[in-house]
Amino acid sequence: MSPLEAVSRQEGAEDPVVRLSGVSKRYGGAYALNSVDFEVFPGEIHAILGENGAGKSTLVKIISGATPHDQGTLWLNGEERVFSAPAQAADAGVEMVYQESSLVESMTVAQNLFLGREKVFNRLSGLNILARELLESHNFHIRPEHAVSSLGAAQKQMVEIARAVHRKAKLVILDEPTSAVTPEERLQLFMSMQRLKRDGVGVIFISHNIEEALTEADRITVLRDGELQGTLLKEDFRRDKVISMMVGRDVEYARRPAGREADPDPVLEVEDVTLIPLVRNMSFSAHAGEIVGIAGLVGAGRSEVAMIIAGITKRRRLRGGKVRFRGREVRYRTPRQARRDGIVYITEDRKVSGFFSHLTIFENIYLGHLCGSKWLPPFYSPRERRSIGQRFVDRFSVRSLQPQLANLVEISGGNQQKVVLAKGLTRKPVVAIIDEPTRGVDVGSIEEIHEMIRDLADDGVAVVVISSYLPEIRALSDRILVARQGHVVAEFDPLEADEERLMFAAVH
Ligand SMILES: Nc1ncnc2c1ncn2[C@@H]1O[C@H](COP(=O)(O)OP(=O)(O)OP(=O)(O)O)[C@@H](O)[C@H]1O
Ligand SMILES: [Mg+2]
Repeated sequence: MSPLEAVSRQEGAEDPVVRLSGVSKRYGGAYALNSVDFEVFPGEIHAILGENGAGKSTLVKIISGATPHDQGTLWLNGEERVFSAPAQAADAGVEMVYQESSLVESMTVAQNLFLGREKVFNRLSGLNILARELLESHNFHIRPEHAVSSLGAAQKQMVEIARAVHRKAKLVILDEPTSAVTPEERLQLFMSMQRLKRDGVGVIFISHNIEEALTEADRITVLRDGELQGTLLKEDFRRDKVISMMVGRDVEYARRPAGREADPDPVLEVEDVTLIPLVRNMSFSAHAGEIVGIAGLVGAGRSEVAMIIAGITKRRRLRGGKVRFRGREVRYRTPRQARRDGIVYITEDRKVSGFFSHLTIFENIYLGHLCGSKWLPPFYSPRERRSIGQRFVDRFSVRSLQPQLANLVEISGGNQQKVVLAKGLTRKPVVAIIDEPTRGVDVGSIEEIHEMIRDLADDGVAVVVISSYLPEIRALSDRILVARQGHVVAEFDPLEADEERLMFAAVH
């Protein structure tokens, strides 16, 4: 059914806030979006789903004025528009909530809320009072006088939502709002989306979590390779249907066969590692050929301990705890030393520390490869770069319109994640600590990445997977640890660990 038919089926439908007809966008000759029809009504929550690189972000960037479209027509509130800057879209009532936050970190919450809309004589105390009222009316427990830099990912998004409401937005767009938030924060975000809906605001949200879209959205639009696959009404929402529209096949996460014998001696032993306030007496071990999953909530100290092991952060000499690699105590001063011993940490924070955004895919992979070498080669070889780059682009199925030329900023989020993995794994490591391996990655590619992680373990690598996504932890792990408030609080056999028990251990 076309979205236009969907409109006619909506009884008493008002005019859409935004409507796109036959909209296309090309990058370097290839279509990122191909003749897409789409619309959102006031008071509607409209989810967009699709694989990595399907064109979801491109679609919302066109609506929010971040990038112009090449063909087709865009109407906002019934008026035909072509935006050439986000400010124009904002003036027309379109507010984009960015995941990596468009707030000014060094200013307070209140200052950010009214940024650009200040009166001539603005008294700070008055601002704070206004801000408090605004935040409280949304049930957001955020102090207006706090600096934005002290807030977590979800809280920043909440400030942006409050700001959108203050600016009387007609359409609010959220691109993967829930990929780095705790379960409670997720609920709060959904509550604010529902509130926007009640106030008659149109909401677009992009997510890789299909369950989330099925429960929260009124309609779901699915894109694939830049083309519209269809728009579903609530009564047609079914998980398998959505997945097959997205991927073109059925997907189920394979489980790792149980009962494998790991090496008796651990390659990596972590004993009472402490770095106040985030890590407190963290202890665990990993054996060659096994996958240890560490579950927990965001902020449980898992990434921090991994960064200590990999020489990125330093622990105190006294009472900082011990890290042993193959029975020998180690304390790396730089990540490169750890890399050379064969300990790789693959970061969860890809935007900040995962890649060089203005180098190409091949250059990124090749630099990752060089970094793991014992000595640097005398010259940089374009031929080697191409061959290694191509090999790992194929192995990780990194999809981009122009693999040789595209800079990392230009490829989709999920494909950036695959490059980050490839960069860390061009050489076979001894220990691989992989932090949130599939954040922002679509269902089909999750399966591919899991397959690759299993291959690593089968190949004798000791793999530690840190993930807040419980289905992932359960599908991958030979042993599941749960971390809470800086230390490991429970260990489970994956066969006996259902999601409820894991969640209980992570929270209580
Ligand atoms: N600035 C750009 N320059 C060149 N190509 C681009 C640019 N932005 C996006 N693309 C390409 O357009 C296609 C669609 O990308 P888009 O970011 O819209 O995907 P997405 O659906 O949001 O994926 P993800 O789920 O991974 O975030 C991709 O192939 C991407 O490489
Ligand atoms: Mg995207």
